[in-house]
Formats: sequence, C-alpha cells, structure tokens
Amino acid sequence: MSVVVKIQDPTGTEIGSFEAEDEKNLCEMAAMHGIEILKSCGAWFCGVCMCEVLEGWEAVDVNKTGNAGISTWDPKNPDHVLWCVWGIKSEMFNDEKEHVVVLKKMY
Ligand code: FES
Repeated sequence: MSVVVKIQDPTGTEIGSFEAEDEKNLCEMAAMHGIEILKSCGAWFCGVCMCEVLEGWEAVDVNKTGNAGISTWDPKNPDHVLWCVWGIKSEMFNDEKEHVVVLKKMY
C-alpha cells in the first residue's frame, strides 16, 4: 500500500521522512524531499552514500536501479545499504500493509 522511509543522521536524530516511490532509488527520493545525501559515483562503487537499515530491511531492493560489478558493500554487514542504486521492492506498493523503513546515514 505505502512505504514510509525515515532518515536519521549519523547521531541517530531523525532528519526527515517521505513516502517512497517505485522505480526510484533511495538517493533520488531523499533528494526530492530535501534530505542531503553524500553522493559521488552513483554506481555502487565508492560507498559514500552508505547507510544502515535500522528497520524494514525486508522492503529493500538491492538491485532497484543498478547492479555494478564491483562493490564496497560488505556482505558481512548486510544491513548497510547503498542509497544510489538500492530502492524499495515493487511488491511493497501492491499489498494492503503500511511499511516503514528506517535508515541511518553513515556519513
Ligand atoms: S554514490 Fe558511490 S556507491 Fe553510492
């Protein structure tokens, strides 16, 4: 039905929230709502956009808008998300539930 994304800064203070859209990555959606995200490569290489998933990991799509061959994402820390290519799973917009994803910026 809907997915609300809440964003925290590195200290854990909530700095904004928005209703997610399908077919957009988290970096695009945050920027549309005035939430500053560090971004450099935009292609899953550098890791400056990384954040931690505090809630709602099941709603995150790791291949939403890109799938680069080399990644700084550490599979030993699977709760770390790269904003620039990851988004929300399409099926989350088609069920009857309200979903919440809470993300904490790393930088
Ligand atoms: S901006 Fe470089 S990995 Fe996201």
